[in-house]
Parts: sequence; structure tokens; C-alpha cells
Amino acid sequence: MLITEVFKKIKFSMNTDRIGPDIPFTHWKLHYKSSMLKLCKKKFLYFDHTADFRAYAYAIYCSQISIGKNVVIRPNTMLFADDFAKIIIEDNVMVGSGVHFYVNNHKFDRKDIPIIEQGYYPSEEIIIKEGAWLGANSIILPGVTIGTNSVVGAGSVVTKSVPENVVYAGIPAKLIKKIT
Ligand SMILES: CC(C)(COP(=O)(O)OP(=O)(O)OC[C@H]1O[C@@H](n2cnc3c(N)ncnc32)[C@H](O)[C@@H]1OP(=O)(O)O)[C@@H](O)C(=O)NCCC(=O)NCCS
Repeated sequence: MLITEVFKKIKFSMNTDRIGPDIPFTHWKLHYKSSMLKLCKKKFLYFDHTADFRAYAYAIYCSQISIGKNVVIRPNTMLFADDFAKIIIEDNVMVGSGVHFYVNNHKFDRKDIPIIEQGYYPSEEIIIKEGAWLGANSIILPGVTIGTNSVVGAGSVVTKSVPENVVYAGIPAKLIKKIT
């Protein structure tokens, strides 16, 4: 019955380790600063009081995600951690809208069974160091660290770690200039 489903969904929303528009009974809280902060401080591993998590952004395994000082997570961003690997966003990092972070890959070595049944390779942590800037719609893949004060161009796919004070862009992301 619909009413039972609604109550189940409310309970799920309160306890699930995720935030996003697909969790409507907590998602509305992102529209107001005080309720956003209360929700994020409860759900995330760390959420600084100066950070902002905007409506229409998603976070999965919030308890494994740390969001530092002055960080704004904008609409259509996807932070996808898991039980085995964290996503750490340090202080003063800028994240454009629609940036995706993933800490794991599906296994796909076997031909005899579907990928959906093969499990995962070991998950790998993502770290975005202090003061970096991730351009809109960039994708940060498992195991990547973005160095302090580095820039990732819009739409880039970052497959390997990026050193500090550089600009990387493209698919796969490559060095386009050093910040001197
Ligand atoms: C990465 C970026 C900051 C670089 O700006 P810039 O230093 O002025 O770089 P340039 O425009 O001089 O480009 C240098 C080279 O990199 C290439 N390049 C720049 N941005 C690129 C991108 N996002 N993807 C692929 N290549 C890119 C340019 O085509 C150019 O290549 P060329 O030398 O072969 O002509 C900028 O292009 C960018 O992507 N900004 C992100 C904007 C954004 O997401 N805003 C959201 C606000 S939070």
C-alpha cells in the first residue's frame, strides 16, 4: 500500500548513508543553510561548517567522505565512495558543477559471466588537495590524488594522479601548463 511505502521511504531516508534528489525526505533540507549543515554534519565523515552541499548534488557512502573548509558541492556532482575507500576533499578546493568522483571499478576479466556478477576490483581512495580547482563535468577516477593548487580542465577524465601547481586537461587528462 502506498502509505506503508511512504513510511518505509521516510525511515530509509533518515538512516541511509547517502544524500541526493533520489532521497526526497532529506533532500529538501539542502535548500536551507541550517538544515543543510545539520544533515551534512550528521551524514558525512567530516563536513566543515563553512562548506556547502547544494540541492541536486549526490553523495553515496557519506560516512566515507570528508568535505573541508570553504568547499561548495554544486548541482549534478556525484561523490561515490564505498566501505573500503574514502573521498577526501581538503580545504579551499573548488568543484565545478557536474563533477563525478568514483572510488571503484567493476571487474570485467571473465567472458563467461556477466560483468554485473563479477564483483569489484579493490577500491582506491580519492584525495583532492588544498586549493585545487576541478572544472565543470570533470571525472575523477579511482586512486587519483589531485595536487595542491592544481587545476583540472572542464570535461576532463582524470585517470592518474596530478602533481601540485599544474593545469591538466583532456581525455585522458594531460599536463597543459605549469603554474609558476
Ligand atoms: C583548464 C582551463 C582553466 C585552462 O585555461 P587556460 O589556462 O586559459 O588555457 P588555454 O585556453 O590557454 O588552453 C591551453 C591549451 O589547453 C587546451 N584546453 C584548455 N582547456 C581544456 C579542456 N577543458 N579540455 C581539453 N583541453 C583544454 C586548449 O585547447 C589549449 O590547447 P592548444 O595549446 O593545443 O591550443 C580552462 O580551459 C577550463 O577548462 N576551465 C574550466 C571552466 C569551468 O569549469 N568553470 C566552472 C566554474 S567552477
